[in-house]
Amino acid sequence: MTKHVPPAQQDADFRKEILQGLTADRKAVSSKWLYDDVGSHLFEAITELDAYYPTRTELGILEAQLRKYARLPGARGAMVELGSGSSRKTNLLLGAFPDLSVYMPVDISANHLKEAADRVRRTFPSLAVIPVAADFTQPLGKLPLLPELPVLVFFPGSTIGNFEKSEAVALLKSIRTAMPGAHMIVGVDRPKDEAVLVDAYDDPAGVTAAFNLNLLQRINRELGADFDLAAFEHRALWNSAESRIEMHLESLCDQTVRIGETEIQFVSGETIHTENSHKYDEAAFAEIASRSGWRVLDSDTDPDGLFSVLTLEAP
Ligand code: AVJ
Repeated sequence: MTKHVPPAQQDADFRKEILQGLTADRKAVSSKWLYDDVGSHLFEAITELDAYYPTRTELGILEAQLRKYARLPGARGAMVELGSGSSRKTNLLLGAFPDLSVYMPVDISANHLKEAADRVRRTFPSLAVIPVAADFTQPLGKLPLLPELPVLVFFPGSTIGNFEKSEAVALLKSIRTAMPGAHMIVGVDRPKDEAVLVDAYDDPAGVTAAFNLNLLQRINRELGADFDLAAFEHRALWNSAESRIEMHLESLCDQTVRIGETEIQFVSGETIHTENSHKYDEAAFAEIASRSGWRVLDSDTDPDGLFSVLTLEAP
C-alpha cells in the first residue's frame, strides 16, 4: 500500500521537520516523532496505567462486540491494522476471526512493527502476516497485495484523535481510496471531565512525562542536539475550544539549545507543542466520517461512556 519509508528517508524527514518545527514562531512538532523504539515502549507502559483509561476501556468494548465484528466480510479476508498498537487488542480480534487469511500491521516504528509481527506469527501460525513499515500520515497508495480479499481496517486507540480535523478527514479519505469497499473499526475517545483527562495525560507515576521528554532525548541522540532534559517539564492541558488534550514541553528558564549548527532560543515558560489528542462525541465524529465519505454503521460505548468504537463502511 503506502510507500515503504526507508530508514535513511525517515532520518532526513525527522531532521527537516524538527528543525522546521523548532524554528517556527510557535514551536511545535508532530506527535508521530514520539514513537522511536524507546517511545513505543513507553507508550505500551502508558496503556497499563490506572490513570490511562482508553486502552482497557476500548478493549472492553471490542470484547463485547466481537461477534458482530466477526460477521464483517473483511473478517474472512485481510485485516489491516493502522498504528499496530496494543497486542492485546490485536490478539482479541485475530482470535475471533478464525477464517482471516492476512494480517497487515502498518506502523512508523520498524522495530516495534517487527516485534508485533513476530508475536502474531507465533500465536497464529496459519495467518499470513505482512508488516508494512510506513508513515500512514503520508498519502496511501493502492493495496497491490490484496486484490481479491475483503478488507477490514482496524484503527484503534483513538489515534485518529492525534490529527487536526482537516488532516483526519484527509486520512480517512485516503484509507477509503486505498481500500475501496473496506469496513473500518475505529476507536475514538470521548470528551469527559477535565480532571480525568488531565490525569490520563499527566499520570502520577510520570510515565507520560518520560514519554514526552523522550522526544528531546531522541533529538539529542539522532540530531546531535544538546537539550538539557532537566530544563524542560511535561505539561498536559485541556483545550476546550478545540475539544482536545494538548501535550507540551515547557522551558523552565531562558535558554539556548544547539541542534548541529542551528541555535534555538527559549524564553522561560515557552513550550514545544508535541501532541493533540482530540475527543469526539458521536455527532462530532459522524461529521468527520461523512466529510470523508464513510458511513457510520454502528457506534458502541462502555457503560461509563468514556470511549467509543465505531464501525464504518464506504458506500
Ligand atoms: C496514540 C492516540 C493512543 O492520544 O491517547 C497517550 C497517545 N499520548 N498518552 C493518545 C498518548 C499521551 C495516544 N494515542
